[in-house]
Amino acid sequence: MRSIYSLLLLLSVFVLGACSHSRHPDSLWYDPNNPGYEYAPAMYHSYPYEPLTQVTNENATSWYYNSTPYNDYKGKYKSNSLTPVAGTIARGKLDYYFEYENNDSGRAMAARNLVNPIELNDYTLNEGKRLFNLYCDHCHGEKGDGNGSLVEAGKIPTPGEYYGKLKDREAGSIFHTITYGKGIMGSHASQLSPEQRWLIVNWVQIMQHGAEAYKIASMSEYEALTAPAQSETPEMESVQDTTAVEEVMEAVDSTNQMVEGEI
Ligand code: HEC
Repeated sequence: MRSIYSLLLLLSVFVLGACSHSRHPDSLWYDPNNPGYEYAPAMYHSYPYEPLTQVTNENATSWYYNSTPYNDYKGKYKSNSLTPVAGTIARGKLDYYFEYENNDSGRAMAARNLVNPIELNDYTLNEGKRLFNLYCDHCHGEKGDGNGSLVEAGKIPTPGEYYGKLKDREAGSIFHTITYGKGIMGSHASQLSPEQRWLIVNWVQIMQHGAEAYKIASMSEYEALTAPAQSETPEMESVQDTTAVEEVMEAVDSTNQMVEGEI
């Protein structure tokens, strides 16, 4: 019998314990998102310091705000490390700094000043294509024709084709668009490193040459695509040109002879 009582006592400790972080709206710790119980809370609320954690509720127990009794959650800064000075750049991340603002004049300045630092070769060309197909083609389409799967499904309006009115977008402008987004296109700065953005810029600029550009896989194909357009009948024209010149030369010769003869 006694063991049953002690078992009940133990059970009530668990049941009441589960209620300790009350879901009752009058409770000081009421939080509608809190299920009211936690298994092994130390798994969720870190005892070690979490960098830059801000303690916001002084009434909360240390469990809930990442504060141990040794943590300075009631101190002057209520944070276990200080926020870096504005403009601080992490070591090795200098290229993440983008000085152009997210507006039309920022875009225009980026277009004027920025040069793509990535050399175009077979590897960078294919890497740009691969990244484009991962991050952009569901809207812009694999061919860059503005008919990606989301557009075809009617989820977003078409962004337009790269070789249409977007044909003349400069490298820096495209980089600005990827970094900040434009209209309903969101920013891709958190998904793509600056280097990856420039790789994609190269590929977008290849696609600006036309709908067939998406098939290109090597520099020789790229060079063939960008070679100046040949006139339709180049041989005929050059033949005509030389005959015309020869005729003139002959005419000049004969006049010269005539003149000499007269003298
Ligand atoms: C969610 C769909 C979506 C995704 C994903 C997307 N775009 Fe766009 N993009 C758009 C739309 C829509 C526009 C037209 C925005 C406008 O002009 O208002 C646009 C416009 C552009 C423009 C032209 C901006 C200008 O100067 O007018 C470029 C360049 C561009 N996107 C490149 C990219 C690249 C590169 C990626 C991949 C990293 C990408 N987009 C991903 C929807 C998308």
